[in-house]
Amino acid sequence: MNDSIIRIRLMKADDFDAVLGIAEKVRNFPRREYYNLKFEKLFKSIDYLPVSLVAENEDGTVVGFVVGELYQGEDGIFPKEAILDVISVDPLCRNKGIGEQLIAEFMDHMRKLGVQKLNTLVDANDSKLIHFFSVNKFGPSKNINMERNL
Ligand SMILES: CC(C)(COP(=O)(O)OP(=O)(O)OC[C@H]1O[C@@H](n2cnc3c(N)ncnc32)[C@H](O)[C@@H]1OP(=O)(O)O)[C@@H](O)C(=O)NCCC(=O)NCCS
Repeated sequence: MNDSIIRIRLMKADDFDAVLGIAEKVRNFPRREYYNLKFEKLFKSIDYLPVSLVAENEDGTVVGFVVGELYQGEDGIFPKEAILDVISVDPLCRNKGIGEQLIAEFMDHMRKLGVQKLNTLVDANDSKLIHFFSVNKFGPSKNINMERNL
């Protein structure tokens, strides 16, 4: 489905600039502070397993990523549910199946760790993203997100 060969690999702490670079191309998207905290949690905390992935093209440029979280308790047992926090593909590389490839490999990776369900939050007005997740076999959750203005 891709024009060029895309390799999916585990995200490393060194991918910070590439990940932030893609994130900054997307409007209304969490940016530097969010990714600073996220990378700290993912790469410095022993409580979280490295499950985030990047997609890179043939010359090694990162063109997309998926950030997820899998908490590892003190007993070393992983929960059956995990979170997909963010998925993003460089706007110049979209509609080539990279998003689908990232999701598929992320699911595979999580499945091997014993995860049975993935959760993600999507803006109810973002019909494109809802469509993307639906095509990738996600369905609406039975939980609803409650909120209150202060
Ligand atoms: C959502 C997102 C990750 C999808 O990435 P992507 O790489 O474009 O995803 P895909 O290429 O797998 O699929 C996108 C569409 O392209 C189509 N497509 C895939 N390969 C194609 C090809 N070779 N030619 C034409 N169309 C193709 C897919 O069928 C899909 O269309 P559909 O939704 O109508 O079925 C990307 O649009 C994005 O980064 N969005 C903004 C970031 C964001 O809001 N992230 C969410 C926070 S969680």
